Amino acid sequence: MSKTVSTLKSAKRTKVERGGVHAWHPYYAGYSEQFVRSAINYLQLCPNDIILDPWSGSGTTGYVCEMEGIYSVGLDVNPVMSYFAQAKSGLVIKLLDEYRIRLQEKIVNRAITIQKDEEWDHELYNFMTSSLAQNILALKKSIYLTKYPELPNLAIKIFNDINTPLISNSIKAFFLCALFRTARKLSGYKKGSNPTWFKKINLKKNFTIDQVNHSFTEICHQMHDDLKNSPLLSSEIIYHYDYVADSRKIPFRQNTFDATITSPPYLTRIDYAISTQLEILILKDSQYLRQIRVNTMGSPVITENKIQVNNAWGKTCTIILEHIKNHASKASKTYYWKNIVQYFDDAYKILFQIYRVLKKGKSALIVVQSSYYKDIEIPLNKVYMEMALSIGFTSIKEPFKEVVKNHMAHVNSKSSTYKKNKVYYESVIKLTK
Ligand SMILES: C[S@@+](CC[C@H](N)C(=O)[O-])C[C@H]1O[C@@H](n2cnc3c(N)ncnc32)[C@H](O)[C@@H]1O
Repeated sequence: MSKTVSTLKSAKRTKVERGGVHAWHPYYAGYSEQFVRSAINYLQLCPNDIILDPWSGSGTTGYVCEMEGIYSVGLDVNPVMSYFAQAKSGLVIKLLDEYRIRLQEKIVNRAITIQKDEEWDHELYNFMTSSLAQNILALKKSIYLTKYPELPNLAIKIFNDINTPLISNSIKAFFLCALFRTARKLSGYKKGSNPTWFKKINLKKNFTIDQVNHSFTEICHQMHDDLKNSPLLSSEIIYHYDYVADSRKIPFRQNTFDATITSPPYLTRIDYAISTQLEILILKDSQYLRQIRVNTMGSPVITENKIQVNNAWGKTCTIILEHIKNHASKASKTYYWKNIVQYFDDAYKILFQIYRVLKKGKSALIVVQSSYYKDIEIPLNKVYMEMALSIGFTSIKEPFKEVVKNHMAHVNSKSSTYKKNKVYYESVIKLTK
């Protein structure tokens, strides 16, 4: 009997991803719900399958898998993204319906007491007035001190022996996300044309604890509504598990997953971690931010380690690196070359991990965009496919490819000298173990 072959849909974000839960965090790197849904059909996934997204970002994979009744695990090195992913779940809807008002009142009341008692000294003062920072931190402390309803017993066998703790109780993740949003709103933190820059506006504005609590309460209410209006169903179980983890060392045993649906950072020098600097500083401090940046693939921070170019990365990679090394422009040979070598090294390590944890015969669908270094084209699709070949994937295909117009590289106006006649592609590559 012949099977119906489903086709993959574009990963470009659509109108759907501009509102509701997708708008909780101004994330510029996410892919579309329709892509994940088409990927689930394309791979013919079933309800007992467990999917991995090792670069999960805002958690689109987990969110759509849940709607389709499929379990998934999302890993991200950035805790802020993991909180946003964890909070978008049917279980959170169920718990909020039952407990939100009570928990919210506890959190804001305790924040008033904390605010009076505590002495503060914090790096957030560089981003907002000290009164706003103190009240945001009082709310954070209160969220941490609050007891949340126990989550239902985790049923899936693979989660018994994982050594990385779940990012957080999902309901606590929800309140932390509401706090992040409150901080952005009241500090006037606005996205610039480049998502890693921001414009400070209301820097001089003071806020009392009552005003901050009021804004937080409103945002909790609106986020709860977003969840109720989303296609997720209120649920008794957890469908997706979000961990803060460095995917260069995926904390799962080999042969665990039935598929991977994912998208890595691209080679566009976009600083993912810095775009969440406000949230990371709320969670901890600038040292923590630095550590996350160092571990984030594609980040512009050069690590201390000297990385050797590896022939196993493939021919295309070797040629690109040679061209960059010999490019006449400033710092090509030094900073940029090192930075791109670092990216390829991380990409190879993570692809290897994806291979390790996939079950035999199962596939990874990976969305990648090509980019340019000055005038040198970097066809990431080809690079990832050649890496996959040397890792041992048995079948390597490219079932989808399209031209993209709004590429993230365009936000960097300095690169406009080289912009002419460039074409950017977005591909989906399919790697089967
Ligand atoms: C292109 S985004 C993924 C977007 C996602 N598909 C969505 O729809 O939101 C890539 C993500 O990879 C994460 N990342 C970068 N380096 C990582 C690493 N070493 N381990 C795990 N995640 C990493 C970044 O923090 C970023 O959130």
